[in-house]
Amino acid sequence: MAVNIKSPDEIQKMRTAGRLAAEVLDFIEPHVKPGVMTGDLDRLCHDYMVGHQRTTPAPLNYAPPGYQPFPRSICTSVNHVVCHGVPGDKKLKAGDIINIDITVIKDGYHGDTSRMFYVGQPSIQARRLCETTCECMWLGIAAVRPGACLGDVGYAIQDHAERHGYSVVREFCGHGIGTKFHEEPQVLHYGRPGTGLMLQPGMTFTIEPMINAGKPDIRQLADGWTIVTKDHSLSAQWEHTVLVTADGFEVLTLSAGAPAAPALAKRPE
Ligand code: MF3
Ligand code: CO
Ligand code: CO
Repeated sequence: MAVNIKSPDEIQKMRTAGRLAAEVLDFIEPHVKPGVMTGDLDRLCHDYMVGHQRTTPAPLNYAPPGYQPFPRSICTSVNHVVCHGVPGDKKLKAGDIINIDITVIKDGYHGDTSRMFYVGQPSIQARRLCETTCECMWLGIAAVRPGACLGDVGYAIQDHAERHGYSVVREFCGHGIGTKFHEEPQVLHYGRPGTGLMLQPGMTFTIEPMINAGKPDIRQLADGWTIVTKDHSLSAQWEHTVLVTADGFEVLTLSAGAPAAPALAKRPE
């Protein structure tokens, strides 16, 4: 596996791209309200990225092998949509949960992050799914350090999700990131401790678990992009871009408005 190690200069560019991606989420949060269309969120984010940040929205026209070019600048995944929801004329209503996934390019480098947002008041079940999925992401992040393995990351995520009676989506994973949107390694959100690639300082990758309230099975819609749960159960996802440092990790996609890490994922001092 050719996993590329970023130089200090590249890491500085990744920090900038990561912060800018997170700031798009900060910017859009107050607009996530009942009656707003997902296409409105896309236009607002697109204009903020291109007009204000001078970043490039990486999803727009992104076409990995076997896919049509993605037609929008962000992904908006509502309720039973797992990921890659295409913004359009869908109107948000009170009680919906929505993942907004932002990837920007600045100075040739990518920053990739997503959060869950509540539209009005969520149900108790929806809130619990979103919070637990956020904890899963942070437990995966907390497992990152030189000498740890990707299986340790996947195991931490899977164990926490399954203890809550949830299931981990297997078909999509985190990914190395840098001058390319998706590069090696693949970061699975399930696994066994002590297996898989060993982490080294200078690696940058995303951790982005998709967790379903029901069964893990998914289906792709006819638009070629939108992924939904087969059983129509709710699904949640959170994503950060992380750097492996000499003694642990640095989260590159933090911003003033980024939710803090939950207590259970904090490492003892
Ligand atoms: N941002 C997604 C990820 O976390 C990828 C979206 S691909 C797109 O990897 F084309 F749908 F934008
Ligand atoms: Co990603
Ligand atoms: Co993403």
